Amino acid sequence: PRPILLTRHGESRNNVRGRIGGDAVLSEAGELYAKKLANFVEKRLKSEKTASVTLIDEGEQGGGSDEGEVGILVEAWIGSSVGRVGSCQYIWTSTLQRTILTASAIVGFPKIQWRALEEINAGVCDGMTYEEIKKNMPEEYEYAKNAISRKKDKLRYRYPRGESYLDIIQRLEPVIIELERQRAPVVVISHQAVLRALYAYFADRPLNEIPLIEVPFHTIIEIQMGVTGVQEKRYKLMG
Ligand code: F6P
Repeated sequence: PRPILLTRHGESRNNVRGRIGGDAVLSEAGELYAKKLANFVEKRLKSEKTASVTLIDEGEQGGGSDEGEVGILVEAWIGSSVGRVGSCQYIWTSTLQRTILTASAIVGFPKIQWRALEEINAGVCDGMTYEEIKKNMPEEYEYAKNAISRKKDKLRYRYPRGESYLDIIQRLEPVIIELERQRAPVVVISHQAVLRALYAYFADRPLNEIPLIEVPFHTIIEIQMGVTGVQEKRYKLMG
């Protein structure tokens, strides 16, 4: 069995201000996490480098494939990413700065960016605080007969011109297929809502629970899929 390591990006400046979405850089605490994560990942992945994994890596590089290159952008939400992501890809991020910066201190392991790992698109609410949303959002989103309120049904609620949790689950399908195909360990650096959905898939949690699953900052969730089932470990690197 090989591990899948899931983590949120380090705390961002938007997180500090309580603003959702956006493309902010890291806060000081977030930058510190990036360093601690790099330390952890380098040790953890080195200890996982079994003989068979090494052989697979060498075979692919010897075949002239470009899969070892850093920073290949997987542009598609679906489908066409398959075949570009090989068994030697270790660090997966979204295309947003806060995940790329969180990965930046990790050296010696290939990185790729997935648009499908981006945070839930909050549409017209992008960049707002939850308070502002409550105050400024037209009431129809909360109370109209035909609209779902986020409070009542967070799983199905779709931000105006944005996404719902169900949308995220759907766009994660190719990511999950790739994760399951990997023979080497993978570190996924992504965002709260996306990681809730990924975690729920591997930990076999029911759909309705997904939007409420706790995915704390500065913590690595390690999933091991073995023949006897899924094992989970959590490493809290910072308070
Ligand atoms: O607050 C951080 C964040 O990643 C936002 O960008 C995102 O909108 C939110 O978490 C998702 O969590 P929730 O669905 O609980 O609002």
